[in-house]
Amino acid sequence: MTVCYTTENQKNIPILAMTAERLEKWLENQSEHTGNWIEACGYSAKAGKICLVANVAGELEVVLLGVKSADDFWAFGALPKTLPKNTYHIDNADGYFSKEQLSRAQLAWGLGSYQFNAYRNNEALETCLFVEESNEASLFNLIDSIYLIRDLINTPADDMGPAELAEAVSAVAEENEAHVSVRVGEELLQQGLLGIYTVGRGASREPRLIDLQWGDEEAPKITLVGKGVCFDSGGLDMKTAAGMRQMKKDMGGAAHALGLARLIMQAKLPVRLRLLISAVENSVDGASYHPGDVIITRAGISVEIDNTDAEGRVVMCDALTEAMDDQPEYLIDFATLTGAARVALGTDIAAMFSNNEEFAEEILASSRDQEDPIWQLPLYQPYKEFLKSDIADISNCSRVGYGGAITAALYLQRFVSEETRWMHFDILASNIENRPGRPKGGEAQAIRAVFKFLQDKFSV
Ligand code: BES
Ligand code: MN
Ligand code: ZN
Repeated sequence: MTVCYTTENQKNIPILAMTAERLEKWLENQSEHTGNWIEACGYSAKAGKICLVANVAGELEVVLLGVKSADDFWAFGALPKTLPKNTYHIDNADGYFSKEQLSRAQLAWGLGSYQFNAYRNNEALETCLFVEESNEASLFNLIDSIYLIRDLINTPADDMGPAELAEAVSAVAEENEAHVSVRVGEELLQQGLLGIYTVGRGASREPRLIDLQWGDEEAPKITLVGKGVCFDSGGLDMKTAAGMRQMKKDMGGAAHALGLARLIMQAKLPVRLRLLISAVENSVDGASYHPGDVIITRAGISVEIDNTDAEGRVVMCDALTEAMDDQPEYLIDFATLTGAARVALGTDIAAMFSNNEEFAEEILASSRDQEDPIWQLPLYQPYKEFLKSDIADISNCSRVGYGGAITAALYLQRFVSEETRWMHFDILASNIENRPGRPKGGEAQAIRAVFKFLQDKFSV
């Protein structure tokens, strides 16, 4: 997978990060030839702008890359698809970048090398970045896990149904000697997992609860939960064409939870890991669940279906109840749960909710440290009022249109005990346009921040 790096110290072309100031200084020690070339190009090291510099023989000698500052790691994400075929390294001879900044720039290179070529014969990239062997393992773990997340999200719904999602979990489990069990269709019904069963009932592909376990049973327990709605048509409360168009990505939360699980296992964090994925398809069919139906969830809490398009929380709550069974130290869920979270925070920022302020603070600190944007929204208890049902314990949809991400999170909170440190991420899981290091399509959000938090917490 990680073909965009090399650890062989060949004759690499240096990439020099430039600001106008640094360029001026650098030019002081350059030949007239080089000075003339920079001038002829009108190169002034504007952020994101590249200048290829050749020696007198006409061979590529150095690449100049304009950056805003040493923090501007995304700038490096544009290079793999821009530079000519060659092997490069990021020059840090003058210590411009801190160790973290340098490895983040190297990460951006890998993230920018991503291509989703499963359905076409695109030419493979032939640009390669040299990285020190000591960086290799952690860098490759991140790249491979984020690529996995992107690939799963980008795969069309027809090829990424609940069964294929379960296969993807099994593949990661095999790689890491984890144990997987999957409850399918009628089994869900028998075990009272009626949220997952009922939402998935209208689809020709059977719903599933995928359950991965790994690590020392005595170690601190971490449980990850993911929304795996392999396609969200909205159900009988069907979405518009425009609203439905992107809904192959509605298993993005599951992809995130799996990618994070992979990171944890590959890094061999001394934890007991459990991964729970509610995998369903929300379809329109004679067997689809109806608005007005009441579902007795796994927790015994009855839910009135006000809107079949608020299906995510209905499948998530059963997985959360399962998760509560072994009282994990940390319970973290990921879901493409609401459009409202996107209205509030836009495409890039993961909306985060937690019932534990200390946990939230630590994750926010990690988010800032990793430059992986997360914003906390409140579990504002008075809004629970909007989830009241006339005939059941709770409604799956707020009766007012405001604060939709919050009311969705409050619904989930109903299924989590106060003593459990719980965090919920409401994410978009994709880029809506191409940017350096962040190609259009499936994207991992908040993963680096959460993983770093766990690493700091549990490293031996
Ligand atoms: N999967 C969607 C939410 C979504 C939409 C995420 C667009 C990202 C981009 C979810 O199942 C949904 O349809 N939510 C509804 C909830 C509403 C019916 C209460 C929404 O957000 O409109
Ligand atoms: Mn929906
Ligand atoms: Zn959905």
